[in-house]
Parts: sequence; C-alpha cells; structure tokens
Amino acid sequence: MAKYGYFDQENKEYVITRPDTPLPWINYLGAEQYCALMSNTAGGYSFYRDPKERRITRYRYNNVPMDRGGRYVYIRDNKSKDFWSPSWQPVMKLDKYECRHGMGYTIIESEYAGITTKTTYFVPLGENLEIWMMEVSVEPETKRLGSNRGNRDVQSQVSSRDLSIFPFVEFCLWDALNDMTDYQYNLNIGQTEYKNNIIYHLSRYRVSHDVVGYFACSNATPNGFDTQRRDFMGNYGDFSAPRAVTEGKMNDSIACGWAPVGALQLPCPLKAGETRTFIFVLGFSEDIKEPPRKVKKFSKKEVVEKELAKLKAYWDEGLNRFSVRTPDSELNLMANVWNQYQCRTTFNWSRSASYYESGIGRGMGFRDSNQDTLGFVHMIPEKVKERIKDLAATQLPDGSAYHQYSPLTKKANPSDHKYGDDHLWLIFSAASYLKETGDFGFLKEKVTFGSIYEHLARAISFSMKNIGPHGLPKILFADWNDCLNLDQGKGKAESVMVAQMLVGAAYEMARIAELAEKPADAKKYTAIAEKMKNAVNKKAWDGDWYVRAYTDEMEPVGSKKCEEGKIFLETQSWAVLSGTADKERGKKCMDSVHKHLATEHGIQVMTPPYSKFYYQLGSIGVYPPGLKENGAIFCHPNPWAMAAECMLGRGDRAYEYYRAILPAARNEIADLHKTEPYVYCQMIAGKFHKDFGEGKNSWLTGSACWNFVAVSQYILGIRPDYDGLLIDPCIPKEWKGFSARRHFRGSDYYITVRNPEGISKGIKSVMLDGEKLTSNLIPPSKESKEHHVEVVMGR
Ligand code: GLC
Repeated sequence: MAKYGYFDQENKEYVITRPDTPLPWINYLGAEQYCALMSNTAGGYSFYRDPKERRITRYRYNNVPMDRGGRYVYIRDNKSKDFWSPSWQPVMKLDKYECRHGMGYTIIESEYAGITTKTTYFVPLGENLEIWMMEVSVEPETKRLGSNRGNRDVQSQVSSRDLSIFPFVEFCLWDALNDMTDYQYNLNIGQTEYKNNIIYHLSRYRVSHDVVGYFACSNATPNGFDTQRRDFMGNYGDFSAPRAVTEGKMNDSIACGWAPVGALQLPCPLKAGETRTFIFVLGFSEDIKEPPRKVKKFSKKEVVEKELAKLKAYWDEGLNRFSVRTPDSELNLMANVWNQYQCRTTFNWSRSASYYESGIGRGMGFRDSNQDTLGFVHMIPEKVKERIKDLAATQLPDGSAYHQYSPLTKKANPSDHKYGDDHLWLIFSAASYLKETGDFGFLKEKVTFGSIYEHLARAISFSMKNIGPHGLPKILFADWNDCLNLDQGKGKAESVMVAQMLVGAAYEMARIAELAEKPADAKKYTAIAEKMKNAVNKKAWDGDWYVRAYTDEMEPVGSKKCEEGKIFLETQSWAVLSGTADKERGKKCMDSVHKHLATEHGIQVMTPPYSKFYYQLGSIGVYPPGLKENGAIFCHPNPWAMAAECMLGRGDRAYEYYRAILPAARNEIADLHKTEPYVYCQMIAGKFHKDFGEGKNSWLTGSACWNFVAVSQYILGIRPDYDGLLIDPCIPKEWKGFSARRHFRGSDYYITVRNPEGISKGIKSVMLDGEKLTSNLIPPSKESKEHHVEVVMGR
C-alpha cells in the first residue's frame, strides 16, 4: 500500500491513512454557491460565491506551521485536563487517524485516549452552509478491562468520561484582501452577537444587511461561548493550546472590534460504550432571520444523513453520464470519478481559490473559464451555456476580451493588458457546447453588443486586425503562456500559437457559419484559416518543429537558432490540433517533442530552460530552470500532445504521455510528487530542477479539463461533433478493447469497442442497436433511450 493513502473505488473516496501528508491534501465541499476548502486535517476556509468579497472564515496562507485556520474542534478530558483535536491539527496528537475525501464531503475518523470520533463535513445541496457532524464514542467497558486487567485507574476512567467539546471558527471580515492588509480599519469593525445559542458574525452588517455569518451547535446546548479571539486563545495564546481549552472555561465574550471568532463549549459526559452526536452548522445568509430556521432544519442526525445521501446521489448521477471500463484501472478511476470531479471544481472556481491561489486576485479568467467548460459540458450543459454567456458579456465590442471578471458582480476587471489569445477561446467553448447539445439556436441568443454568433465573429476579426510583420497575430501582453511578454513597446511581437489557434478557430467558425446558414461567412472563415495556415507554414517552420513566437525585434523564440528555449511544446501540439500541419510535418514536430521534451514524469513545456533573465522575453526568465513556464512539465499542455498523437494515430505514445502525469499512477511516489494523488496539479518540476518529478499547484488548473478531453475524446475517442457522436479511439495496441457509457443529447449509449488485430486506430465496423452503420458517426437519436453500439477496430 502507498505510504499516505489509497483509493476506495466503491465509495469514490480517497482514504488518507496518516495526517502528515507531504502537503495538505484537500477537498472542495459545496457544489454551488457555498464553497469550503477542506484539508485532510480540517484546515481551509469557506466563502460564498466570491472568495474575495464574501470570505466567511479566515485562513493563513503560507503560514508556519503549515495549513492553519480551519474547522477545528478541541476535545478536553475534564478529569485529566488533557486535550486534543480529532482532526490532528492544530493540537497534533492522536493514536489513530483516517481521512476520507469523497465527492463533496470529507470524513475524519480518529482515536485518542480511548475516545473515538467520526466527523463528517459537507455542504448540503442548495444550502449556503456547512455541516460538521461529530460522533464521539468511548469504548465499551469490557474491552478496556479485558486488556488492562487489574488497572484501577483505567477502569474508572473508562467506565465514564467527562469531556468538553469546543468547536471553533475564526471569522474573516468578509473582504479577504482588506482582512490581511488594513488593520487600523479592520480591527475596529468586528461585531458579534449571541442569541438563542447561535453565534452571529455581524461585522459590516451596519452597512450591508446582506452579510450575516453564523455558527451553532444545532442539537445540544452550550454551557459557554467566546466570540472574541483573545478571550478564547488567551493573550499570546495559539491554536495548539487555546486558553479556554486548557482552562476548560469560556469567558462568554462578545466581539466589538478586534478579531471575531465563533467558539462554543459543550458538555459531553459519556458512559462506557456510549456515543454522542454533535451537529455544528456554519453558514452564510443575506437575511438575519434565516439562521435560526437553518440551525433547526439540521438539528437531527437522520436529517443530516439524508442530506449526505442526497449529495452522494447527486454526484453519482453527475458522474454517470460518462464512465469507462478499460484494462487500466487507474485510468478508469481517474476518468470515471476524480478527473470529472476536478473538472467540476475548476469549472466552478476557475483559478480563484485553492491552496495556492489566495482567492483575492484573479477572479474568473476568460481564457481559463472558457477551457474549463470543455471538461464539464457533458455533465450539466445548461450551466456551461450560462457561463459562456457570462463570458461573452465581458467581451469588448472590438472582439477582444478582458482577462478576468468577478464572480460576484460578473463584471470584468478592466486591466491594461490585452492578451493575444483570450477572445479566441470563446469559439472553442461555444463549439464544444454546440457539439454536445446540438442547441444551434444558442447562436442567435443576444448578449451585450449582439448575438453569440456575432461575438464569435468579432473574436476572429480582432485577431485579424492585429497582425504583425510576418502575417501572424500579435502576441500583445502574452498568449496562453502568460510569461512570454515579448512586446517591449514596438507592438510587433507575434505568436505562432495564436496563429495556430486562429486556424483552428476559423475552421470551427466555418462549420458554425454553415449551421447558422451563412454560406458566405463559411467561405470567408475557410479562407482565413487557409491564409493563416500558409503563413505559419511559411514563416514559422524551423526544420524539425514550429517556432513558438517572434520578439519585438523579429527574433524567433523556440528555434534551433536560439541558445536557450530552442523548442516549445505548445506550437507542436497546436499545429496538429488546429490542422495547420500536414501529416508529415505533424509527425515530425511531434517526434521532436518526444525526442527533446518528453520525460518519465511528463512533457516539459520547453527546453533548454532559460538560465538567466532575458528582458526581451519577459517574465518567463523569472523562474529558475525547471519550474513553471521555464521548462517545467506544465500539465495543461500535456494533453494537447496526447490529443495530437491520437490524431496522428499513435495510440501507444498518447497513452505513455497520459500515464506519465496521471495522478493516480503517482500515488506510489507521493513523497516525490507531494500534491494530491487524486487530482492534477498545474506543473511537475522538470529535468533541470533538482526536485525533478515534484508536483505543484494542485486542483484549479486547465490540466483537469484537457486531460479529460484527451482521454475521453481522443484516446477513447468518444467525441461529440455537430451532427452526432463520433467513435474514433486511438488506444495502446495491447488493449483488447474497452467499454463505455456516454450520455449524449438525451440518450444513454452503451459502447463496446473490440480490438482483435491489436492496432491503435482504425474502425472496421460499427453497429448501432444491431444495425450496421456506414460510418463511425452515430447520428443523434430521435428518442431518448438506451442505445447499444458495437465497434470493431481493424485496418
Ligand atoms: C496558468 C494560468 C493560465 C495560463 C498558464 C500558462 O495556469 O492560469 O491561464 O495559460 O498558466 O501560462
């Protein structure tokens, strides 16, 4: 068994068997408006819709000790005066520990000094609150007596225990940025109230009646409380030994300024063999009358259990829309459960709130959010439709886009920077929505300056109006690679990647124009694609691969001529994905990727990394070699290479790339990989770094959606298209086949693929409900029902 944990396949849980994981291994609770980041030792914080403006609890990023601020409970044995935290942190002593991260919930079980606890944390569906349900038990007398015959002390201790339970939260003063910067102000706005056993957090309520936080125990009556941090902690006190817990007594303090917290003391006398259940409710409301109703609603164990069951059913249903059975159990686990789960999380929160993104800076990224839809559109297409409209609504009339917008106001964060690529991603997200749903009426829906179709059309025209000296689109502040800041004031620097994206987007627009019955436009877009394709092949082919970009001085980036940064991954994969490269060049550039960039831990984004800072290249040189854009294994473009290899028919290579960064396949090397083995991380340190193979920045990353696209649509080849569902697998030759279930436009397809000749790609026959089809495109079904598809691969 791996050192820190294992997958419980049946329950869709990852089980962590020791608390001291190399980094906090976290989960996200809450599928809708309320979000709670939850580590394996109960660290993390909660927010409502917007992690910057509506931060409910406080978390200390980059803290020593690591991972402080969380959902902490202290248990005190009033006789021995000993105390501990059943989630290990922050007291950090336990006899036994286990944490189960599941779909939208986390359960931590532990044991200390004969007391066992099981705490279940989750956000009920449709609620803006979180539940921590803690069951506290003491062993039956006989068990202890049996193993400690003659020991009177233990006997009396076991037969009854007098415990106090102290649940604790530290409130954030709503605005998370102000909360950690402006103390002359914010240490004077804190306010709390304690009414009918509920702690209310009312800082800023004087000005905004739509911000109320609350914390309560819904099924037991406290015998004390504290809402002023200093009273609970003691002066100079800390999380690991708060005054109230060491003394066993609360001060019943009310905060008026300083640091509001929510802490309760609950008596917990236990007879041998007895279990008591405590339900804690932490919530957010825009109506001060609501909290008592909510606390009451969740005051019974049966109700809480029912809500948890509902949550599980919700996830089962969501995940059922796509599932596979292949010879690779780790692939199955990731594709069926964890990868989809991560796709939903990144769809919800873009790059805003993770353990590496503080939730105060970035909001929803235009580029990122468009891509995130790709991994989620099969689950809830309606939500994707709304998201695409929100994104389009922030687009400017000239077709360009703002880089980010706020999830609360849905307004763009205007910035000086314009990126060469942002606006083009809208075409790819809209295309994938259309392919998934066939909802072509969507193109006519109005958003700000015109129909969706018009928004897409203007995206293309913005690129076409910003062309540099080689006839390639200008990179502007940067493109997908944020750190290639090549425009040094002349405004000439060009991006080959944007050029290739434009080829792909224009071909896509040509199809969309046909569907919208605009044949003249279709022609126009095909011509744009062809023109750009020629420009790239003429001006950016370097002999064995494609150049990455041109600087303001028209020097190539990512060319043999360069001393460092000779080859970049993005322009090789996109050459194939966009249809820019013919088969020969496609193979050649992807062979160069294999030769120069691929490693056993994944494909590096470029090589050799820059050994120093080159002002003409921008921020890429800030990073030491092997980290981030400067030559790390950036996980996001890795699946582009997998998809490109599939398009070239090279299934073994695509699969090799897939396995190299597959989180589950890295469980055994957790001490090296460090981040969670159940989700993708943004990057893995490259060969030029001393910690080659170390993962960083987990959870919110474009790696989630693109890996799902690569495995489901390219390796397994189940790919929605405008006029049906394509079945076009490109698998390792040794696979004898696989089966899958795919929901598509109202029907469930049960797909079996056999590979009798041991090939990677090629289809001999397709049967739909027992009838032979003439191609591998399954036309959309007229009736919603089960369909059976049998595919035989062959030359
Ligand atoms: C980060 C950003 C993403 C960008 C990538 C490469 O992951 O979120 O927008 O494309 O880095 O620079």
